[in-house]
Amino acid sequence: MSASSEPRTPYYLIDKSKLLANMQKIDRVREQSGAKALLALKCFATWSVFDLMREHMDGTTSSSLNEVRLGRQRFGGETHAYSVAWADHEIDEAVSYSDKIIFNSIQQLERFAGNAAGIVRGLRLNPGVSSSSFDLADPARSFSRLGEWDQEKVLPVMDKITGFMIHNNCENSDFGLFSRMLDQIEERFGELLKRAEWVSLGGGIHFTGEGYPIDDFCARLKAFSQKFGVQVYLEPGEASITKSTTLEVTVLDTLFNGKHLAVVDSSIEAHMLDLLIYRENAKIAPNQGDHEIMICGKSCLAGDIFGTFRFPEPLKVGDRISVQDAAGYTMVKKNWFNGVAMPAIAIRELDGSIRTVREFGYDDYESSLS
Ligand SMILES: Cc1ncc(COP(=O)(O)O)c(C=O)c1O
Repeated sequence: MSASSEPRTPYYLIDKSKLLANMQKIDRVREQSGAKALLALKCFATWSVFDLMREHMDGTTSSSLNEVRLGRQRFGGETHAYSVAWADHEIDEAVSYSDKIIFNSIQQLERFAGNAAGIVRGLRLNPGVSSSSFDLADPARSFSRLGEWDQEKVLPVMDKITGFMIHNNCENSDFGLFSRMLDQIEERFGELLKRAEWVSLGGGIHFTGEGYPIDDFCARLKAFSQKFGVQVYLEPGEASITKSTTLEVTVLDTLFNGKHLAVVDSSIEAHMLDLLIYRENAKIAPNQGDHEIMICGKSCLAGDIFGTFRFPEPLKVGDRISVQDAAGYTMVKKNWFNGVAMPAIAIRELDGSIRTVREFGYDDYESSLS
């Protein structure tokens, strides 16, 4: 298709060549370390680019029945099912889509081990250390419900499981910190790891980022795998899609209220919710020039602000802006707040052409409620 099939703004634009660059790093890690890589669907589930991703990843991991089903049906490969808590009416269906199920607690394992007798079973461990600087996203926060902490309590249920999932990294681009935390995991859960056949180290490791020491990372993963005789899994979400996607918006109005403001046809509350939750600014490149302008969303929320950025010229109605890094925890969280038009989804193919794969309209808005 030609570039003329670009949709009307707002839309998310996934650039396959940028996605491919991440996938090539994932390939290198798989080859060099022996670890398998599963896409964490909670971060990114836009299945129109799974054709490319499945050539470089072993499968998917999930956090709900819907995600595990999407993983099985749209991605294929190895399909891990995890949920903080399975409901009685979900478990059999979840098992039917997955080849491995990871329970969050011993109680869930004991209740549902029978239902999952035909597939591989595991348990989530919580090592009590994390790299998160946000309490909200810290799996090791006080009173965390995310996984079992006590090796002595897990040892008696080893006959019901063959492996573990440990997710304690969070946007961690510091290899030294990753490695030190893995030392702590080895120390704390050594007896369990010795008895395991596989260990998933979860996501949150920014190994596809600029300058990450991939060779050291692979050597550390390999050493861990050899020490305990386990197949290592990684569950990259953000690392799989980082810097691959923009949110394309258009300026609808400009104001001056002591600061120069530009209102665009999108909303952080509706289309980039994590910015609001973590109180972060959006990224706009190159963010240079003499004109400082606050980019605002069009919802009625007073704090619906993408951030303040620098531009070479004053913005005017009709100007286009690309908000960077709009794939992770973004498209999966979009919502219909204020009824703001839902961004379409478009893909820039490897040959540079742009293909619109989804547009949303009034019917989608109406059918999201009743
Ligand atoms: C269990 C588990 N695996 C994988 C991920 C993906 O993490 P990230 O997108 O930071 O790589 C998460 C994120 O919360 C998670 O909870």
